[in-house]
Amino acid sequence: MKITLSVIKADIGGFVGHSGVHPEVLQKVQEVGLKEVEKGNLIDCQTLVCGDDIALVMTHQHGVDSELVHGIAWRAFEEGTAVSKKLKLYGAGQDLLSDTFSGNVKGMGPGVAEMEFEERPSEPVIVFFADKTSPSAWNLPLYEMFADPMVCAGLVIDPKMHDGFTFEVLDTYTGKAVKLSTPAELYDLLALIGSVERYAVKSVWRNSDGEIAAVASTQRLSLIAGKYVGKDDPVMIVRAQSGFPAVGEVLEPFARPWIVEGWMRGSHNGPLMPVSFKQATPTRFDGPPRVIAAGYQIANGKLIGPRDLFDDPAFDRAREQAQLMADILRRQGIFEPHRLPSEEMEYTTLPKILKKLEDRFYELEEGKKAPTGEEHHTETD
Ligand code: 13P
Ligand code: 13P
Ligand code: MG
Ligand code: MG
Ligand code: MG
Ligand code: MG
Repeated sequence: MKITLSVIKADIGGFVGHSGVHPEVLQKVQEVGLKEVEKGNLIDCQTLVCGDDIALVMTHQHGVDSELVHGIAWRAFEEGTAVSKKLKLYGAGQDLLSDTFSGNVKGMGPGVAEMEFEERPSEPVIVFFADKTSPSAWNLPLYEMFADPMVCAGLVIDPKMHDGFTFEVLDTYTGKAVKLSTPAELYDLLALIGSVERYAVKSVWRNSDGEIAAVASTQRLSLIAGKYVGKDDPVMIVRAQSGFPAVGEVLEPFARPWIVEGWMRGSHNGPLMPVSFKQATPTRFDGPPRVIAAGYQIANGKLIGPRDLFDDPAFDRAREQAQLMADILRRQGIFEPHRLPSEEMEYTTLPKILKKLEDRFYELEEGKKAPTGEEHHTETD
């Protein structure tokens, strides 16, 4: 049976500030989704929450980029926004960047991760959902899950995984993508995806037979809106077991927190903290960034789950480490590298402040221009 798993998410209003979702808003979004299950348009539909974002997890047989399915998500978020507005929640409808739906939610604000596959005799999948960060937050864990044998033992042990995986990498500035096959092109992959401000992994396929293994949302709100409208807060779907990384191999990268872009005003670097559903309420300095993992078994298209996979004391140490990293970074205050570098602040309100100061700069010594970096540049390695 061929099914499509579509995860579409949006921030349609925060409770309180940017820290959480109001139960009435969630209920409305759920209601719209469930009606579509009753009508037979969707096989199944659930919601997940991470911070102030809501994700619709939908199964159906309409394929990816379906106008029907995208339209359902858009309507659910619109109706949820009406409730947000009534309660005057913060940033009601924040991620709905257009007034009207035109066939596909891509480019309209919501984040989308969807894949179509033949349901296996047993189909475990994990939906990851992060708040206060950008799509490139998945770059490092996807590399570790699908290309680093020191994290994913299956790459060495499982004959179906031994040929490696192909990564599709999106250049979020140009909209162009490139496919790189690992292990052969591993270093080329890393040359790109280490530049987290620009490149984001879009999808991953198994080399032995071309099966889809993972898909991430790569929407960049600031590039769509041309201004700061909150962080993207991405979702990702990963298939697990029998020919894919085991559930524990998929989760393992999150046991060692790394630093991602986002946090306060989307303008800071901070540790990505793996948390239970209940702990996905970023409040300290609007963070630190959070990630939840919802595990499902798919049975004839039905979503059996979710299991709250980071609700495990084995991730307590990661949470502790993330707290420590947060303390260390917070010591920097408004200084880089806690605050993002200037180029990344382009879409925030900081340029307005800098503009005010522009006319007040003068030559420190009359007639003597300061050397530019270029004149003094020498070739080094
Ligand atoms: P169980 O024996 O608990 O099923 O574990 C199997 C396994 O391969 C775990 O990685
Ligand atoms: P969100 O993208 O989660 O709304 O965060 C916005 C923000 O500015 C937090 O400080
Ligand atoms: Mg928000
Ligand atoms: Mg958010
Ligand atoms: Mg956001
Ligand atoms: Mg078992």
